[in-house]
Amino acid sequence: MSIIQAASPPGPPPTLVDWSTGSISGEGVEESVKTLGQLEGIFEDEPAWRAMNPDTEVYRVRYWRPVSDGKTGGLFWGSTVLQPGRVGDEYFMTHGHFHAIRDRAEFYATVKGTGALLIMREDGELWSQKMKPGTVHYIPGDVAHRVVNTGDEPLIFLASWPSDAGHDYARIRATGFSKRLVLRNGEPCLP
Ligand code: PA5
Ligand code: MN
Repeated sequence: MSIIQAASPPGPPPTLVDWSTGSISGEGVEESVKTLGQLEGIFEDEPAWRAMNPDTEVYRVRYWRPVSDGKTGGLFWGSTVLQPGRVGDEYFMTHGHFHAIRDRAEFYATVKGTGALLIMREDGELWSQKMKPGTVHYIPGDVAHRVVNTGDEPLIFLASWPSDAGHDYARIRATGFSKRLVLRNGEPCLP
């Protein structure tokens, strides 16, 4: 019996990942870009941030939402390309967020590059995990998560998260992460 069936299956057609670049493509794939100008208040050294070109791309997310946003029980899939760079001595990083529904978990899987995943509880306790090609990170519910590129090439990772998780960015804009990953004596350091 052929595995190609005539009747359409109960989900959308597959999307495609290029495993060498982490890029995803296919019907319905969306894209969003974050520039330095859009990350106001995120980096500590504000004068250094102001002196840089606000149009500089920091990261780009391509994502696939095969079910509607907010649906309970579905999953989304995305790919983030985080550029190398620094604002002052602080490495380029994602904005970071809690999930709007706090107990929703997520997977991140590194395709290329090196960096760190920062995970922070509501009370500010923070952990980091090294990201390098092949690492798969389980991000439990109830934690904020942010990725930092400590290398000199783009850091690319895939992610999958529940379709009803949502993003709470406001909490990070208000109180930030409790630690920052900075360059000290030629090394990434989380003081
Ligand atoms: O769902 C996720 O956690 C990721 O796809 C992130 O949204 C992505 O890496 C960009 O980070 P942020 O949403 O914090 O801007
Ligand atoms: Mn998330």
